[in-house]
Amino acid sequence: MKGLILSGGRGTRLRPITYTSAKQLVPVANKPILFYALEDMVEAGITDIGIIVGETAEEVMAAVGDGSRFGATVTWIHQPDPLGLAHCVLVAREFLGQDDFVMYLGDNMLEQGLQPLLDSFAAARSSADGPSASILLSEVPDPHRFGVARLDDAGRVVELVEKPADPPSNLALVGVYLFTPAVHEAVAAIVPSERGELEITDAIGWLIDAGHTVHHELLTGWWLDTGKKDPLLESNRRVLETLEHRVEGSVDALTVVDGPVVVEPGATVVDCHLVGPVVIGAGARLAAARVGPDVAVGAGCEIVRSGVEHSVLLDGARISDVPRMVDSLVGRGTAVEGAPGGAPVASGRGVRLMVGDDCVIEL
Ligand code: G1P
Repeated sequence: MKGLILSGGRGTRLRPITYTSAKQLVPVANKPILFYALEDMVEAGITDIGIIVGETAEEVMAAVGDGSRFGATVTWIHQPDPLGLAHCVLVAREFLGQDDFVMYLGDNMLEQGLQPLLDSFAAARSSADGPSASILLSEVPDPHRFGVARLDDAGRVVELVEKPADPPSNLALVGVYLFTPAVHEAVAAIVPSERGELEITDAIGWLIDAGHTVHHELLTGWWLDTGKKDPLLESNRRVLETLEHRVEGSVDALTVVDGPVVVEPGATVVDCHLVGPVVIGAGARLAAARVGPDVAVGAGCEIVRSGVEHSVLLDGARISDVPRMVDSLVGRGTAVEGAPGGAPVASGRGVRLMVGDDCVIEL
């Protein structure tokens, strides 16, 4: 079993952050999104992993390296243009060979590990008319935003449609798929969709129409497609829920800490109120601030005389004299400055920002 992680997208829905940083490396709880997929695979024993890269190849390759620190061997596969998820399987043909593989969209985050999915696929595969693919489905309130599956009365997958205006069910395709080599014929046979992409949804539909069995599992636990600000903040919140308290930086005696916090080495916290879960990156400096809950503060950030809640600050961001900032995503090295004199507060409207790298915002 090999792994294929799709990490080629441009991240247009996360602009302006993605004008200057790769979307795959935007942090969730201070760890790049892409690393979660890699770690999930390795945890399920899949270590021969191909990663599809596009425009952001250089940055992604530098961050992952050869994969050895994840316990994986990584093969880099270049996709010259983002022509769809099924196109990724086409360009990975040589790497995939005749092996079964797990395909994982690099911007999806799942609470559930891959092992149960692999186990039930292996069990189904051992029967005479074993499946050629397995998909993971999740009930969602807004199926028109996803690939959607229709099941028959016996619970078999009979139809798949990509982003239907009139969804046949509320079962969305999660961005994790298991394939046998049968998929190669399918991706070679389909034609681009209306949005000009070779859709993996169509390739799986092609398998069904050609008489193959497509197995499915219903997802337990949460699942988020992190490609936009609000789901990204929600992923951050979900991951922070599992945070284990660890303080390696310095927290002075005036600071009040409620709930679990991580303070990385070299970070200093003076006269603050930390409302966990909160993670504070290496070398960050917090003074007279109220931070949390659900905040990830990147390395080298500064938060001074400000209140920050339910937000992600990328490395080197500086927040000063902002009484209340909520639901915000702040780019690397960006400074947000309010008027001096106010104090951090826990109520009121607050400011909500989505700003890219190296900006200066004076409120
Ligand atoms: C892609 C797939 C879609 C799937 C979704 C999961 O959508 O095309 O079928 O439900 O990922 O995140 P996209 O992110 O390209 O809009």
